[in-house]
Amino acid sequence: MNPLDYRQWPTTSKSIYGSIKLGPIPRPSSILITGMGGSGIVGDVLRDYLGGRIPIHVVKDLTVPDWVDASTLTIAISYSGNTSETICSSLCARERGSAVIGVTTGGIMASEFRRLGIQVVQVPTATAPRFGFPQLLYAALSIIDDAVGVNGKEVEESIAAQEEALRDVSLAEYVGEQLLGAVPYIFIDSRVQGVAVRFKNDLNENAKTPAIVAPIPEADHNDIVTLMMRHSVKHVLIKAGPNPVMEAVESVFADFSADPVKLELKGDGLLAKELYGITLLGMATLHMAEKLGVDPVRTDPIDLLKKRLGRLC
Ligand code: PA5
Repeated sequence: MNPLDYRQWPTTSKSIYGSIKLGPIPRPSSILITGMGGSGIVGDVLRDYLGGRIPIHVVKDLTVPDWVDASTLTIAISYSGNTSETICSSLCARERGSAVIGVTTGGIMASEFRRLGIQVVQVPTATAPRFGFPQLLYAALSIIDDAVGVNGKEVEESIAAQEEALRDVSLAEYVGEQLLGAVPYIFIDSRVQGVAVRFKNDLNENAKTPAIVAPIPEADHNDIVTLMMRHSVKHVLIKAGPNPVMEAVESVFADFSADPVKLELKGDGLLAKELYGITLLGMATLHMAEKLGVDPVRTDPIDLLKKRLGRLC
């Protein structure tokens, strides 16, 4: 399997984190992260990790909620800098008085934000937006560190977890093999649901495969009922350390003769577990792409749609 940018992920993460120099940021009472797809996933991961400490709201849309004001810090993330939804929602946040910081490789975001006096963190390019995940994530983490402080040890552990996942490449290939030709139905401990959202996106974009995400405990009240029939799905169970609810779900899967692919996320702490899962499962989708004979980099319908939509604000 060609791991594309994955082998560089830990080095990229280290070099980005801490190297970002920003002007003063007013201490926010909430953080809004806006971005789509491979950029927006940064918001899901940061909400899982820090959402218990400070309200983090993730926007994957053209506008922002009415409560956004000067006490909100907006982090606008667009790998290309040309994604209309992200530009429009961040300008909308700015109109409401929110401080905005852009994270991008360039594009309209870099030029327009600079013209408007909005701070921009310019990050290095990757093979495709989603493979630039470490530069986008660790730039955003750096911004949040400046604004409200982040635990440096947990950040280090998250980089070590990527290295661990890179060593587990045969496990990644095994997971990918199990999912070939089926629709993965991903049941996940909701504390780390960003891993499942990212896995779904990677399955869609890299392996051109549909997928369903079922965060537990909510899925215990709906998705789990589908075990009563045979469907052409392959269940995946992603665990993140001790959780009696996950154990109960596993036993119900066994009672209904479902045979899920199981993955226990390695790593100390939530951020490390997320980075382990995202790295490992991303590689699983690259393995699938190779087996399916599809190009993991190409996303023709996204490109076409973006062209048709043009600038939306
Ligand atoms: O990974 C991808 O290619 C997509 O999911 C993009 O990230 C998405 O279309 C948004 O584009 P950008 O990240 O450039 O804002």
